[in-house]
Amino acid sequence: MDVQAFIAQQVEEIRGIVGSEKALVALSGGVDSSTVALLGHRAVGDQLDCLFIDDGLMRKNEGPMVQETFARLGVKVRIMDAAQRFFDALKGLPDPEEKRKAFRDTFYRTLGEAVRESGAKFMLQGTIAADVIETQKGIKTQHNILEQIGIDPAAEYGLCILEPLKTLFKHEVREVARALGLPPEISERQPFPGPGLATRIVGEVTPERVATVREAQAIVEEELEELKPFQCMAVLLSDRATGLRDGERELGQIIAVRAVYSKDAMTADVVQVPWEKLTRLQQRICAEVPGVVKVLYDLTPKPPSTIEYV
Ligand code: XMP
Repeated sequence: MDVQAFIAQQVEEIRGIVGSEKALVALSGGVDSSTVALLGHRAVGDQLDCLFIDDGLMRKNEGPMVQETFARLGVKVRIMDAAQRFFDALKGLPDPEEKRKAFRDTFYRTLGEAVRESGAKFMLQGTIAADVIETQKGIKTQHNILEQIGIDPAAEYGLCILEPLKTLFKHEVREVARALGLPPEISERQPFPGPGLATRIVGEVTPERVATVREAQAIVEEELEELKPFQCMAVLLSDRATGLRDGERELGQIIAVRAVYSKDAMTADVVQVPWEKLTRLQQRICAEVPGVVKVLYDLTPKPPSTIEYV
């Protein structure tokens, strides 16, 4: 791929479509949406409204981190607190696909409102090739795929969506991100799914359960980052296990840890984490995350597993 030619072509295309109108991009801090935001900013400057929707399912300190990173690039990002409505929508839903649908619906309704409030005619979105392919194959309905599953975003949510990265795979998006000047904290960042920590919770998503998995996720990233995994994650299981704390039995939570190498997320191999590292992960998670009494390591490649747990 000729990265500079790709950028020039997309910038021109976005500029041509948006014209003198306003556009909005929902920025999550991931490499895809960050790349789209910078492409959009390069194309139409301040006509692009960069919005970080805090859905309550993001990693630790995500909003401020995104705001600071983009401020350094001269791009203003505003944060919208929408956590409560996502928790309300996810309440009582243990099924993975129902959770994805509830997330998607809440996400686009929230976005639709934000777009109307900001007066934007267009929305830029970081859909990439793997999202489209996996949804078409019926493996998973990625939250950001609408038209492919028969939803008309204009009719349903009042949105005209532009997806400049739709033909690229992750490693190509990273090339574009680097060429646009995104710092390595973002261009080399692990993919993080749109529905966020909801995909790393087996069973119902509640604020308490998200808090547990968020703390564990932060530890897993800190400890495993040096192995340069494609993705690493903590997952909160729905079963409980009997543990011992201070000589007392405690029926506690179980965290599964998963780390994989992959090129394009279509297949993945398990990272062979050294035993000492695994031991340290277990010790830190049990000591630092309230209520956790057991830590497991997932040995399953993709296929037969998917990368995310649910
Ligand atoms: P799976 O779990 O299907 O994941 O092997 C493949 C890649 O896609 C990410 N993923 C998602 N991304 N919305 C997203 O935006 C989703 O619903 C979703 N589910 C999985 C996953 O993190 C991996 O990189």
